[in-house]
Amino acid sequence: MGDQKTALITGASSGIGFELARVFAKNGYRLVLVSKNKERLQSAEKKLKSEFPSTPIVSIPKDLSLSNSAFELFSECKKRKIQVDVLINDAGYGLLGKFHELLLKDQMEMLQVNISSLTCLTYLFLPEMIRRKKGYILNLASTASFQPGPLMAVYYASKAYVLSFSQAIANELEGSGVTVTALCPGPTKTNFQKRAGASNTKVFSGFLTSPEIVAQRGFDGLISKEPVVFVDSRSAFLAKLAVIMPRKTVVKYVRGIQEKRRKR
Ligand SMILES: NC(=O)c1ccc[n+]([C@@H]2O[C@H](COP(=O)([O-])OP(=O)(O)OC[C@H]3O[C@@H](n4cnc5c(N)ncnc54)[C@H](OP(=O)(O)O)[C@@H]3O)[C@@H](O)[C@H]2O)c1
Repeated sequence: MGDQKTALITGASSGIGFELARVFAKNGYRLVLVSKNKERLQSAEKKLKSEFPSTPIVSIPKDLSLSNSAFELFSECKKRKIQVDVLINDAGYGLLGKFHELLLKDQMEMLQVNISSLTCLTYLFLPEMIRRKKGYILNLASTASFQPGPLMAVYYASKAYVLSFSQAIANELEGSGVTVTALCPGPTKTNFQKRAGASNTKVFSGFLTSPEIVAQRGFDGLISKEPVVFVDSRSAFLAKLAVIMPRKTVVKYVRGIQEKRRKR
């Protein structure tokens, strides 16, 4: 029990974050679950407790769209004497629509969750990992990290940040014992598309990967200290193609798949 490690997972109430919690519990980790909605978080905790009765689980509701939340979460962990061995920054969402037509406030809140809180949490938990010469950080990037995304401009740009930031600090931390992994799933079957208002878009009308597969791949990539993890060879190929193809062609293609399907 003394050796049991703790994984803190933001966005643990549903989708990829919830499945990551299951994989970490299966592998003997204690869990700290974080998300915004209290009821959804409690229900996730209940499900996990019934599947993994011997796993210690702490749930901390936090709205990561508020600038103080990352600091409050860190203090809460200190107060409860929780040592975080694995930090998973999964909380995030997108919004479908033209940049100038979506509300500025909504897009700024999204940036706070997808970028600022992720960056702050990494900054706050990193020093202790460096001191212990051991730690893992998993950040949820996306295949969206590799190209601009018309009709979800801010979301795609936020995921480009997550990838760039993760790769840069992974390099800075080489030899420290702390590793950083950017997980880059393609379209996945979660609450994401409904929340983004994108259920009816072409990109989410095709094949969707299951969040279980994404989480398992994320866990394996983190444990084997891979800096960038794709879920399958198809998304790895498409992401790499997007980087070498002319930007104009790529942007046009992405605009096409971000459009809603025509009603018959
Ligand atoms: N689904 C995809 O196709 C896909 C593809 C690539 C990358 N991703 C990334 O994967 C991550 C997880 O998304 P998902 O697909 O699993 O979607 P999801 O099922 O909607 O889960 C999103 C999680 O983030 C939490 N969250 C949202 N806003 C928050 C806030 N203000 N404060 C705290 N927590 C908040 C949600 O908590 P509440 O329940 O409290 O709202 C929920 O637990 C995201 O970073 C997303 O960008 C998703």
